[in-house]
Amino acid sequence: MSKDYVIDEMISAKAIAARIEELAREIRGEFGDTPQLVLVGLLRGSFVFIADLVRELDLAVEVDFIEASSYGDAMESSREVRILKDLRSGIEGRDVLVVEDIVDTGHTLAHVIHMLKGRGPARLKTIALLDKPTRREADVKADWIGFSIPDEFVVGYGIDYAQRNRNLPFIGKVRFPG
Ligand code: IMP
Repeated sequence: MSKDYVIDEMISAKAIAARIEELAREIRGEFGDTPQLVLVGLLRGSFVFIADLVRELDLAVEVDFIEASSYGDAMESSREVRILKDLRSGIEGRDVLVVEDIVDTGHTLAHVIHMLKGRGPARLKTIALLDKPTRREADVKADWIGFSIPDEFVVGYGIDYAQRNRNLPFIGKVRFPG
């Protein structure tokens, strides 16, 4: 299948790695006292980010995942969020860090925060690699943000367009020439 779009690099692999080092330092500052932090990755887009982040965190961590429905194969977000896969572990009384790839309209993150808060964690914080603040509809902001970006459709570093380009090492923006 040939591609009818091009990808322009927006954030290099080196810049991502440097930012993750900084974020990991801040997260260690916040959670350094926890017996075991539960990292909750939102599938599928966060799988590369969480893999790099967890290796920068010099903490006892458990890694778990939630899959929430979002774009499907389209470029527009749906406002209705469904949970397709839930956590394996209970989080009551535990410290939790939700790891998201992009906060766009914010509906996904808002839904997941609401759901997890209902389970009584001790602390619940959120981190997103990318934030598109101009697209926000739900009243939500991640506690840590890697990069704030303009309203562009991006791919790479775990993030897809129609299930492709997750394996690019950088973040690129999708452009349709002509
Ligand atoms: P939200 O619920 O609108 O905040 O959407 C969040 C989810 O939509 C993210 O976790 C991504 O999976 C997806 N998403 C948002 N923006 C983009 C993009 O630019 N490229 C690819 N996926 C995106």
